[in-house]
Amino acid sequence: MQVKKAIFPVAGLGTRFLPATKAQPKEMLPVVDKPLIQYAVEEAYAAGVREMIFVTGRHKRPIEDHFDMTFELEVALEQAGKRELLDVVRSVKPDDMECIYVRQAQALGLGHAVLCGQRLVGNEPFAVLLADDLMVGEPPVMAQMVQQFSEWRTSILAVQEVPAEHTRRYGIVAGTPVNDRLVDVSRIVEKPAPEQAPSRLGVAGRYILTPGVFHEIATQPRGVGGEIQLTDGIAALLRREKVFAYRYAGKRYDCGSKEGFLEANVELALQHPTIGPGFRQFLGTLSS
Ligand code: UTP
Repeated sequence: MQVKKAIFPVAGLGTRFLPATKAQPKEMLPVVDKPLIQYAVEEAYAAGVREMIFVTGRHKRPIEDHFDMTFELEVALEQAGKRELLDVVRSVKPDDMECIYVRQAQALGLGHAVLCGQRLVGNEPFAVLLADDLMVGEPPVMAQMVQQFSEWRTSILAVQEVPAEHTRRYGIVAGTPVNDRLVDVSRIVEKPAPEQAPSRLGVAGRYILTPGVFHEIATQPRGVGGEIQLTDGIAALLRREKVFAYRYAGKRYDCGSKEGFLEANVELALQHPTIGPGFRQFLGTLSS
C-alpha cells in the first residue's frame, strides 16, 4: 500500500497575511526564490507521491500557471542559451508528476477542503500537505512519514511540542507512547485553550490518512469557528482505526503568519548556496 496521491488544500482565505493575500493565494508567496506551494510539492515528490491534487479556490490561476508549461519563457531561455534557468523552470513539474485541480466553491474549512479531493483519491491512503507550513528536514518530513506508514499501515499525523500558550493555534493530540517518536493517539482536540489541552503535542500541516477519514469528515457537524474541521474527522476515525502521531525530525516555519514567513526567508536565505554568504554579511551590517 503505497502513498501515491497528495491533497494540497490551497483554498483558504489567508486573512492573517492581508493585504498580500488579497488577490493571490498565500501558497504563492515566495520564500527566497520559490513559492511555498513548490516546497510542499517537492516534499511530496521526494516521498514518492506522483499525483498532486490541489483543492483551489477563487485565486486558483497563479498555482495552475506555476505548474503548467511556460512555452514562451522556455523558448526565450533556450534561444538566449540560459541552460541553467531553463532547467530551473522545467524542474517545477517533472514529467512523471501529474497535477489535478478541484475547486472548493466556499472556504468551509480544512476538513471540507480535504473532502473535495475524495473522488480523486478513491479508496487508497493519501497525504495532505498544508503548504503554509514550510517543513525543512533531512530526509524531508513527508518521506519520514511515508516510511512510518509503510511500517505501521495506519494514519500518521506530524506533531511537534508547542508552547502551552500556543495550543489555541493547533489540533492537539494525546495518547500512549509507542516509541521515542510515535504516539498511539487516543484523543485529538481542535484549538483548545491551554487549560483544556490534553497535551502540548500540536499537529503540523502534514498528514497521511486512510480513506476511511472521508466518511468521518462528511458526517461531522461544523466545529470550531463554524468550519468543517479535519481534526473532528480524525477524532471520529480514531473510534474505528488506529491513528499515530509522529514527532518528525526537522523544523517547521508557520508561513501563514508574517513572523514565521520572515523567519523562513531569513534562515533559508542564509543557507542558500549562492546568496547565503552575501546575505549573512548584509545582516552583520544591520546588527553593528
Ligand atoms: P488556515 O487555518 O491557515 O486558514 O488553513 P486560511 O484561511 O488559509 O488562513 P487565515 O487563518 O485566514 O490566515 C490551513 C490550510 O487549509 C487550507 C488553507 O489554504 C491552508 O493551506 N484551507 C482552509 C482550505 O483549503 N479551505 C478552507 O476552507 C480552509
